[in-house]
Formats: sequence, structure tokens, C-alpha cells
Amino acid sequence: MGPRQLEATLDNYELFEGILTGLSAARTYLEQWEENEKRGRGLIFQGEVGLGKTHLVAAIVNELQRRLIFSYFLSVPLFLERVRDSFDEENTSEGKVMRTLAAPKLLALNDMGAEKSSEWAIERLYQLIDDRYNYRSPVLVATNLDARGLANVYGSRIVDRLYEMCGAPIRLEGDSYRKRRK
Ligand SMILES: Nc1ncnc2c1ncn2[C@@H]1O[C@H](COP(=O)(O)OP(=O)(O)O)[C@@H](O)[C@H]1O
Ligand SMILES: [Mg+2]
Repeated sequence: MGPRQLEATLDNYELFEGILTGLSAARTYLEQWEENEKRGRGLIFQGEVGLGKTHLVAAIVNELQRRLIFSYFLSVPLFLERVRDSFDEENTSEGKVMRTLAAPKLLALNDMGAEKSSEWAIERLYQLIDDRYNYRSPVLVATNLDARGLANVYGSRIVDRLYEMCGAPIRLEGDSYRKRRK
């Protein structure tokens, strides 16, 4: 997480049309965290760039960390790019990376579908998601893509599990926050 995401909270998320459902889903998710944790229930935020998907996901992670609940924000494109490198290095074996990502009570998967990657890397992502699925460990997802788009990039094994864990995506709509600010 960068400084920008570290500062994200639900209180500094400005409301405008099209994103109200996103904010209320995030609030409810936090209110019902214990139940969500028990059931392994997560959320998918879907929509165009700049609508605050990453902001919402980061805000949930930040709030849980404030409550001293171990949560982790993962950039999926970086994970896919680096998992191979980590496999080659002596000190950070692939197993260690995978165990690290299995441990958090909540794992946020940011920017899913943002780029194509090798089958090898996607297999690692599958293992990670399947592991969390098996242990009923919740995940949050932020993505531009709908189910079909995600399945094109990662395959349906991954997407089916995410949808089962998270239910239907929360769609954000409207003008990007950056454009709005101009
Ligand atoms: N509703 C909002 N209120 C306040 N800041 C916002 C809002 N939506 C987006 N931002 C800010 O605008 C920037 C882009 O948002 P981001 O969460 O990265 O969008 P997305 O992930 O949907 O592309 C971030 O700095 C974010 O904190
Ligand atoms: Mg984003």
C-alpha cells in the first residue's frame, strides 16, 4: 500500500451518485466483520477506473488493522509479476510467499485483471485463492472487469471461487473522482 491508500478511510470517501452502494457495502461489511469472517464472506468492487474501488478496499483493510485484525492489501499485478522472482531468490521461497498470503484474516486483491500474465503465475494465484476458499478466509476484490472479463484473464476456476466467496459484485458507476476534481 502506498501513502495514498494508507490514508484512505470510509470517512474521507466523498459521496456522489453511483458510488453510494459501494460505500454502504463497505460500511456494512465492517459492521458485520465477525460474521463475515466466520463465513469467509468477502466483497467484489467492480467499475471503471477512478471510481474509488481501491480506496474502499484500502479503507476496509485500514479499519481492520486499526482494530488489530491482521489484514493485507495485495496488488495482484505486482504479485503475478514478482511471484516468479521470489521463487528464484534463496531467502524468499515461493512457499514462504504463499504462506504469508494465506495468513491474514482478510486479504484484499487489488486491480484484478489489470494485465495478462503467464500461466505459471496464474496457477500461483489460483493456489492462493483456492487456499483461502478452503479455509473460509475472506478476500476483497477491486477490478475493472465483470465475471466474463475476469474469467478471460484468469480462468473460471479462480472466478467461480471468488464469486462464491463474495457474491455478486458491487458496481460503482459515474465519473471518475479525478475528473470530478478538475
Ligand atoms: N469518492 C471518493 N472520495 C474521496 N477520494 C476518492 C473517491 N474516489 C476516489 N478517490 C481518490 O481518487 C483516487 C483514485 O481512486 P481509486 O480508489 O484508485 O480508484 P479505482 O481503484 O476505482 O481506479 C485515489 O486517490 C482515491 O483515494
Ligand atoms: Mg484501483
